[in-house]
Amino acid sequence: MKKTTLLLTFSLVLVLIGACKDVPKNELPMQPVNLANTYKEAYRPQYHFSPQEKWMNDPNGLVYHQGVYHLFYQYYPDDIVWGPMHWGHAVSKDMVYWEHKPIALFPDEHGYIFSGSAVVDKENSSGFGTMENPPLVAIFTYHLSEGEEAGRNDYQTQGIAYSLDNGDSWAKYGGNPVIPNSGIKDFRDPKVFWNNKINKWTMLLVAGDHLQIWDSDNLKEWEKVSEFGHTQGAHGGVWECPDMFPLKVEGTDEEKWVLLISINPGAPNGGSGTQYFVGDFDGKRFTTDQQKPRWIDWGTDNYAGVTYNNIPNGDRIFIGWMSNWQYARDTPTKKWRSAMTVPRKLSLKKIGDKHELINYPLKSLDTLLQTQLSKQLTIGGMEKDSVSFDHFNQTQVKFKTLARNFMLSFKNTKGEETVIHFDGKNSKVVLDRTASGNKDFQVDFGKTPHYMPVDNLPEGLLEIRILIDWSSVELFVNGGQYVMTDQIFPTENYSLLELQNTSEEETTFREFTISTIKSIW
Ligand code: FRU
Repeated sequence: MKKTTLLLTFSLVLVLIGACKDVPKNELPMQPVNLANTYKEAYRPQYHFSPQEKWMNDPNGLVYHQGVYHLFYQYYPDDIVWGPMHWGHAVSKDMVYWEHKPIALFPDEHGYIFSGSAVVDKENSSGFGTMENPPLVAIFTYHLSEGEEAGRNDYQTQGIAYSLDNGDSWAKYGGNPVIPNSGIKDFRDPKVFWNNKINKWTMLLVAGDHLQIWDSDNLKEWEKVSEFGHTQGAHGGVWECPDMFPLKVEGTDEEKWVLLISINPGAPNGGSGTQYFVGDFDGKRFTTDQQKPRWIDWGTDNYAGVTYNNIPNGDRIFIGWMSNWQYARDTPTKKWRSAMTVPRKLSLKKIGDKHELINYPLKSLDTLLQTQLSKQLTIGGMEKDSVSFDHFNQTQVKFKTLARNFMLSFKNTKGEETVIHFDGKNSKVVLDRTASGNKDFQVDFGKTPHYMPVDNLPEGLLEIRILIDWSSVELFVNGGQYVMTDQIFPTENYSLLELQNTSEEETTFREFTISTIKSIW
């Protein structure tokens, strides 16, 4: 067994975030924060977005406007478990560094503020702004808990709010709800986009086991135009958080539409997951010949992900909630709960006879990387090599290889390990966190390894990219064709990477690099 040693002193760069600005009266200020200790707690992600404190779930209202990427999110400011939902808010200029903003939307007499989207109403179709100062309009679900407790089925309705100062302050529309409920128990998560096929706004809404498509001229009056999915895809749980957008098939002029549907439970490795459909959209109706579900991510911790509206160059940028309803409330963090995935660019590639949805970190993440080791590693048949590093928990590992049978184990001195097994003989990748660290907080969390079939890989060099943060691992195979995102809670840094060649032939890992990833906080 060979051993490559790399010792580094790792100093975290702590960027202190500016003190809270003026907060509108009658709104809660962001929680008082002890800046000196911010973002240094055990398991705190260093380059993923997480709230300063308290509970967060789905990304909401992803929209770009006047040089700013907005990230709203499901937020409960009073506890680290789910509760009456608000929309938390953060902004970024580069999708790398984030600035926290005051809470954007508070519950009101119509209910809690559940998930939804935001648009720039450029033509002021809503009349909330002016042509010179077009409004940002948020479209969300109201959840009336009193209705739920009374055993009714009509407690989820759709509401809107607008902002004339690029998201700093919001006013709810006086005519809410804009879509009442006719008795559908799960009726939520509106995704609205400008539909230039029919010059109207289109809204995607999930209704229990299917998708509904609605349209509108002014964001206030809506009409239902079609339904999709009663018999297609996975139905192991309720459909949630829809999204839909066109993508050019890479290297061609062909355009296909991709529909994202989150589902809970019913994901292939348990709990919550996000399926996708590739098909066509005529402006009113989504059609596809795809019957079986396909998954944007095979790990258990990428849920409720949606994409940005209004990105200037037409890129499709996706952010998911890095957790799973199975254990989201139980993870062993104390001050805050959960983080978002790194922002990922979505694209469509034809590989073999399949349109594959690719998701891969934005290039801007590279600005945080500092390469510490770069070499070529050759490992004999059935042999091992290893790399020591003072910690792997804020690190990217990346290489290219022709090999299809190998294993990577990230280990610490306490015997904890996260293992990635590329099992080409059985056309699958296994991400094993069953011994990764703290896992006893919930019975399903570390119960079984997670598998991902990789049955449509092209021949040739394969890129493997792994991003590890203090409580997550994201694996991208072949530039994002196959992806797994899992939370992990090691109780000590991983300080050893073992690489095992599980084939009889000698194998080479080319351009093998280990890079530290700077903290964004
Ligand atoms: C998805 C979800 C949404 C809902 C929100 C409530 O995680 O269940 O369907 O709007 O969370 O917080």
